Amino acid sequence: MKEITTVTVIGAGDMGHGIAQAALLGGLTVHLYDTADESLQRGVGKINDSLEILHRKGKIQDEEMKRCKANLHPTLDFREAVTRSPFIFEAVPEILELKQRLYRDMEAIVSKDTIFASNTSNMRITEIAKNLQHKDRVVGAHFFNPVVLMKLVEVIRGDETSDETMQVAYDLCLKMKKTPVRVEKDSPSFIVNRVNAPVRVLLGGIVDKEIAKPEEIDALMKFNGEPMGHFELSDYVGLDVLYDSGQYRQQVLHADYAPYEKLAEKVKRGDLGKKTGKGFYDWADGRPTIDVNKRTDKLKMSDIDLVKLNEAAKLIEEGVATPADIDLAMISGTGDKVGPIEKHQGINVDDAIRRLELLAERLDKEVLQPANILTDKPEAVFVLEGQR
Ligand code: CAA
Repeated sequence: MKEITTVTVIGAGDMGHGIAQAALLGGLTVHLYDTADESLQRGVGKINDSLEILHRKGKIQDEEMKRCKANLHPTLDFREAVTRSPFIFEAVPEILELKQRLYRDMEAIVSKDTIFASNTSNMRITEIAKNLQHKDRVVGAHFFNPVVLMKLVEVIRGDETSDETMQVAYDLCLKMKKTPVRVEKDSPSFIVNRVNAPVRVLLGGIVDKEIAKPEEIDALMKFNGEPMGHFELSDYVGLDVLYDSGQYRQQVLHADYAPYEKLAEKVKRGDLGKKTGKGFYDWADGRPTIDVNKRTDKLKMSDIDLVKLNEAAKLIEEGVATPADIDLAMISGTGDKVGPIEKHQGINVDDAIRRLELLAERLDKEVLQPANILTDKPEAVFVLEGQR
């Protein structure tokens, strides 16, 4: 099994620069590539700013900071970027054709055992690798935003990914001081984004129907100890990213995942969240202040939690992940204090099913309907011991 000491990151945006930084902090040499000098410099600037924060807080010392800066090699030269390391992280926009073309271009010039890891947040790895000769070397390595703070990496096996590729990617994530979780079935949106997808359907539906406003929902979530409100986090991640993901899920999972109206309106106007200074909130002066006194009473926090549990149950039913891995992924990828399975140990399952049915009817969304496994075999959902 090869030991990786150098990696390439393709794309210096929010995720790419974060992956590059995590690799630097893991002691690796990093070639960071982007097509435009402005984007590349912005990415490098963000890495340096973040290293300064870590240094100021005493989380890294002078030596480590110097080493990280010396080990970063930004480049606009594609050939140089992809031929200088045995492991390539791809973090380009979520457009399938763009990714497929990039992988073909890379395969044409790298050695046959170079590993390609996609940071796609939703797309099946098998689709991305579809046109390649050596599909066994393609794996998913899905990081979470902000990469420097979020521990999780979903390591996803495509239909043809080899055991060795999975293991090299897993070990590399450990080296980058992350918490890798294996996703053995290549199912759209993997674990965390899949568990959160129907929450977006629920909350988007509530906002579209004007049952409650985004800031009232976020106030409810913050009041209940969530690190960010749903709409605040949406702005943080980028409304364009969520729009594209919604469209993809609409095509491959269910029509209910289509981007909700208020999200689509904002994207059409170019209000993409934090990155453009405006989304559901104004970010001109930094993170929005959310007044917990404005929390809605039209929805309960436990409704949101139940929707997560329900989707987690569907993932278990489909064999995508174990209950323990789902909990670990949700905790290390989103800052949840307790995973959806552990949170609902000992609940009245019949009551949960009834409440989910009511939510599905109220919002007219089939994806909120209870998972079959909750009725047929609930004991398979609530097992946590001995799973990891
Ligand atoms: N570099 C280094 N350190 C940083 C930093 C940076 N860029 N930004 C913030 N920090 C540090 C801060 O200095 C602070 O340090 P101290 O605790 O030592 O003071 C710490 O990180 C926490 O920051 P804040 O106090 O500003 O904010 P917070 O307490 O709310 O924590 C957060 C920030 C960890 C991001 C938290 O809000 C959180 O967990 N939010 C949820 C994030 C989430 O769910 N991410 C997943 C999104 S979905 C996704 O990514 C998938 C996809 O496919 C798109």
